[in-house]
Amino acid sequence: MNTEPKNELCCAEKEALRIRVDYNNMLSDKVGANGISAEELAAVKPRLVAALESANAKRDSMRWRDLYKTMPPILDSILEAAAFVRETAENFVVLGIGGSALGPIAVQQALRHLHHNDLGKAVTGSPRIFVEDNIDPERMAALLDVIDPEKTVFNVITKSGSTSETMAQLLIITRILLDRFGEEGVKDHLIATTDKEKGNLVGIAKRFGLRTFVVPDGVGGRFSELCPVGLLPAAVAGIDIRALLEGAEYMDGLCMNAEPERNPALMLAGLEVLAMENHGANIGVLMPYADSLKYIADWYAQLWAESLGKKKPSENGYLRFGQTPVKSLGVTDQHSQVQLYTDGPYDKTVTFIGVDRFRTEVMIPHAFDEIPGVAFLSGHTLNELINAERVATEHAVTASGHMNKTIMLPVVNEFTLGQLLMLFEMQTAFAGELLGIDAFDQPGVEEGKNATYALLGKPGYEAKLEELRSSAAKDAKYVI
Ligand code: PA5
Repeated sequence: MNTEPKNELCCAEKEALRIRVDYNNMLSDKVGANGISAEELAAVKPRLVAALESANAKRDSMRWRDLYKTMPPILDSILEAAAFVRETAENFVVLGIGGSALGPIAVQQALRHLHHNDLGKAVTGSPRIFVEDNIDPERMAALLDVIDPEKTVFNVITKSGSTSETMAQLLIITRILLDRFGEEGVKDHLIATTDKEKGNLVGIAKRFGLRTFVVPDGVGGRFSELCPVGLLPAAVAGIDIRALLEGAEYMDGLCMNAEPERNPALMLAGLEVLAMENHGANIGVLMPYADSLKYIADWYAQLWAESLGKKKPSENGYLRFGQTPVKSLGVTDQHSQVQLYTDGPYDKTVTFIGVDRFRTEVMIPHAFDEIPGVAFLSGHTLNELINAERVATEHAVTASGHMNKTIMLPVVNEFTLGQLLMLFEMQTAFAGELLGIDAFDQPGVEEGKNATYALLGKPGYEAKLEELRSSAAKDAKYVI
């Protein structure tokens, strides 16, 4: 595998690959009374400027934002581990969940062949890649039916080193590896990605002498795609991880602009917050028109939901924040959800993601020229059709008075995807500042983790088990 740095893009090339944001259709000029007015936009400007300043002041604690600066010194070790996997393995299996899985899934889907695992190593140069983010027993059994551990490298990813799902998967896999290869052989089949000192995986990695990568401090799960959590799986797939980081750096530069109209993440955050606060938009639909970006919507859903879904004590109890993200895929979901996005309630915004140039072109050939109702399609391309359908849906949603906006990628590649990841991360951070909440904790997720520990008898969780039992006893009369 070539680990030499590729040439950096020049300024003009970067500018040509810049992601564009069109937010005209969020405004009342376009969608009517339900849209954001020029007065609202003017009034929110001082809040946007303040949010930018406070996010910049907190930069030291937002280390995910600096990964493009802090990762380069370890890229060689990531590429070396990736080269080992590419040489020795037929399968690469990520064990992780939430922020330790959604980024890898999204980036793999975006940047490798859509049928990567079916093409075979002879064509891709890379092993088959699986990201196992659920603990459905049938799924684990099915995985074990199709991989040979002898030809497999597993990458266990958990920042905390304690998440029940990931540790259960690790136990299953370690047992298999120990039985097949003995204590000494485990290190050839298992790579760990975790905190530098906290959690159980640190000790496990030491015991077996595993290759280990660190999730840096200040990089929470859902903000971790551009550290070894995502970079190693990406490198195994042959994705250019330096260009991913370059894209993130470029977008971070744009997101430092003090003028909200020139700062895409700040403007997107401001529009969504206004939509939530003043227009009842409790739902935010993300609808990429590209299969390669389908799982960006899953990654974004976690980022937006877990970061902004918060409560703050108030005089009358709690103030509650957040917007429910909905994942949608163009054009597929035009035939499932767009009826709701047009004629349904004014409780949502829709964000379309479009692609100017797909990486391939598929012609629609002539075959039924005698049937005008079908023949009009012939001579066009699927590329034209998918983009025409996106424009048509934007029109229908706008005409029905629903706020929407469009993020355009010139092409899907490492540089534009790095930009997109950073754009959404920064949008989320700015929205947290605007709402006055901590976007970087997840007490609700921790509560669920603790209840699981209690139910399965983890020492130290006896009081939590008692709490669960007494609440279950009270609920008994409502069970049919
Ligand atoms: O964003 C987060 O912090 C969470 O979603 C975590 O990524 C998820 O709970 C998995 O945690 P861990 O990586 O510690 O296993």
